[in-house]
Amino acid sequence: MDLSTPPPDLYGRPRADTFFRFLTAFGDRYSPALGGPLLRRNPRRPFSRPTEALQLVVTARRRVAADVVELTLADPSGGPLPGWQPGAHLRLTLPSGRERHYSLCGDPADQADQAGPAERSGYRIAVRRLPDGGGGSAEIHDTLHPGTRLTARRPRNGFAFCAEPAVLFLAGGIGITPLLPMVREARRNGLDWHLVHTGRSADTLPFAAELRALDPARVHLRTDDEHGGPPTGTELLAHAPRGAAVYCCGPAPMLTAVQRALDASPAASLHFERFGAAPVTDGEPFTVRLGADGPELPVPADRSALDVLREARPDLPYSCKQGFCGTCEVRLLAGAPDHRDRRLTPERRADGALLPCVSRAAAGETLVLDL
Ligand code: FES
Repeated sequence: MDLSTPPPDLYGRPRADTFFRFLTAFGDRYSPALGGPLLRRNPRRPFSRPTEALQLVVTARRRVAADVVELTLADPSGGPLPGWQPGAHLRLTLPSGRERHYSLCGDPADQADQAGPAERSGYRIAVRRLPDGGGGSAEIHDTLHPGTRLTARRPRNGFAFCAEPAVLFLAGGIGITPLLPMVREARRNGLDWHLVHTGRSADTLPFAAELRALDPARVHLRTDDEHGGPPTGTELLAHAPRGAAVYCCGPAPMLTAVQRALDASPAASLHFERFGAAPVTDGEPFTVRLGADGPELPVPADRSALDVLREARPDLPYSCKQGFCGTCEVRLLAGAPDHRDRRLTPERRADGALLPCVSRAAAGETLVLDL
């Protein structure tokens, strides 16, 4: 997630609100990934430019739930890695060239004594295999083993933890990954925290044993099979201490349920990160054409242009599906787009760049793409 552009407000509206403006300023000041002014320089390793690729090697791999593997990534020469804060993610380039974003689920305090406060010995990510995904998770599960080399960008953080005195963490399945470092930090700082981790069944909950060991009284594991279905927003928020800040990461229905129940709950604020695309809620049907004389594909009101395009062009790359990474960029030849991304500058848009994972067009419009 790109901190240089404020993300949408807490309720997904495409404008920055006061909280996110604060958050962006906070990230600029404190995020080591951005080289903020409080970051102390390690004399053993000069700062590299934020865009410089990190060379990494897989040093460990373990299964942490059904269809979830955790990888530890390190510098091939054993050197320290750039530091990060809870909520940060890595943009990985896989051996195939696919780019994917994964939250860091290790402990930023890792090896602080040896490497200094700004650098770490290894990054941990956890990846669930998605049978209907674009192949990134399958590639990781099937081909990444200790010794595999890959590259990444320095960690970036669009889901910063503000360490409020009272906190409720809500994790849906693999959504535990950005929250796990926050939970450790909350525990270390003596905050009044609780965690609800939900999933279909016990074997689908990553890191369940590790979480229970942190504090069994504050960790609530909740599975659909034991309770007859997914939790309601009210049920999830019932664990919030009064005035708590809620940090939520999970599938779209979970986020929607929490947003709707927030006002009637004891919680005071909501910070969230979704995985995958947000549901299209205000779309109109339009058409994309592949080249000036190519086939026309109708885009329904409730689907993204990217999803429709990938049915015709399965190799079309993508990563975040949220309009911030730029991986899915295509060139617009004609038509009037409704740009909904958070990445392209007005100049790039004027030059024909379009991110079809989120950008659309008005009803009846046809966008001609250079595909
Ligand atoms: S997939 Fe990331 S911007 Fe479209």
